[in-house]
Amino acid sequence: MAEPAHNIALYVHWPFCLSLCPYCDFNSHVRDNVDHAAWRGALLRELEHYAAQAPNHHLTSIFFGGGTPSLMAPATTAAIIARAKELFVTGDNLEITLEANPTSSETGVLEGFADAGVNRLSLGIQALDDAALSALGRTHSVAEARTAILMSRDLFDRFSFDLIYARPGQTPTAWRTELKSALNLTRGHLSAYQLTIESGTPFFLAQARGALELPDEDASAAMFEITQRVLEDAGMPAYEISNHAIPGEESRHNLTYWRHRDYIGIGPGAHGRLTLKGIVHETRQHRAPDIWLERTLVNGHATQRSAPLTKETLIQEVTMMGLRLTEGISAAAFAIRTGQTMEEAFHPDATTRLVEAGYLELTADRLTASIAGRQRLNAVIETLISSQPVPQS
Ligand SMILES: C[S@@+](CC[C@H](N)C(=O)[O-])C[C@H]1O[C@@H](n2cnc3c(N)ncnc32)[C@H](O)[C@@H]1O
Ligand code: SF4
Repeated sequence: MAEPAHNIALYVHWPFCLSLCPYCDFNSHVRDNVDHAAWRGALLRELEHYAAQAPNHHLTSIFFGGGTPSLMAPATTAAIIARAKELFVTGDNLEITLEANPTSSETGVLEGFADAGVNRLSLGIQALDDAALSALGRTHSVAEARTAILMSRDLFDRFSFDLIYARPGQTPTAWRTELKSALNLTRGHLSAYQLTIESGTPFFLAQARGALELPDEDASAAMFEITQRVLEDAGMPAYEISNHAIPGEESRHNLTYWRHRDYIGIGPGAHGRLTLKGIVHETRQHRAPDIWLERTLVNGHATQRSAPLTKETLIQEVTMMGLRLTEGISAAAFAIRTGQTMEEAFHPDATTRLVEAGYLELTADRLTASIAGRQRLNAVIETLISSQPVPQS
């Protein structure tokens, strides 16, 4: 009998943006000139390099992320999609997502991506308030955001947009109003991220010198709860800490990460998780765009690391990613991926203590985090894996 097909997802990183946002620590760079033909050639070569390590795999999704992938030449997107379809087994329901900024989403450009085969668009809206957009360093207005949303909803089979809340000066009441007005613009999926202050970003430096006042912990927790309630009442419950969808509209690509399944990552700084000879490997490409391009054109790839994950890291990742999901972790999938049962992997009694404290729920075949558990996931994982005390509520 033939072996069952091994599923795989593909992430493609496009590292360029028109300008840098002061909160962002993704691998993003501003360039006056990009040699699109050279980048297309290099991305195709790195795709071929990894496809050779995953022969006969069934490709379930492609995700063009960034940076700002809506600044790619649509012909590059089309070439990658076409080559991926040749290199892997694909079905009719291949999910192909592209992240777009409203500022690079003119009608013609978006049509080009739809023609290239993108069937799911994710727009970076961030706020529906002009003053907040400007404070976030965004170069689009609310009017432009609305135009991009209406256009994208018509052009693509599936559509989502991102918002950021717990912004400087924002109150829970103001967020509830903004979220409700966003609801009228959604079509099945919405990502609502709590603003995080990432080390080294301009927001981090501003906070350090007292020039950035964020909502306090209680206000942030209230905004998280408002998000859960408003979106659940609208039929888009959370399926992950920050991601909400009507059932069936979840991002299958992102579910691959959270369920800790295999994916290939190409482009500067992209990560992958790939099972080679039965062992889960982590892969990482060189972060610097110019070095990545040069190495890929010369060697066919710019891999900086490709190594087996240690058992400890694997357990930590599977737990961390899985507990982000409302569905939690399947006991069977955990054992297959890590080679250990959850009882063997976790510190004795930790699960019971976390269940008693209301942070985890355990059934015969699943471990899930409650909303309270998902709000303090790092501390919950520390308790499970390193036997730190149960976090305080
Ligand atoms: C890396 S961006 C790429 C998308 C696109 N370049 C954009 O900005 O719209 C992906 C998403 O991450 C979120 N994000 C980035 N930095 C964040 C931060 N510090 N806190 C919360 N969300 C953040 C934003 O919502 C953004 O849309
Ligand atoms: S948030 Fe998006 S547009 Fe802004 S710097 Fe990051 S990747 Fe670029």
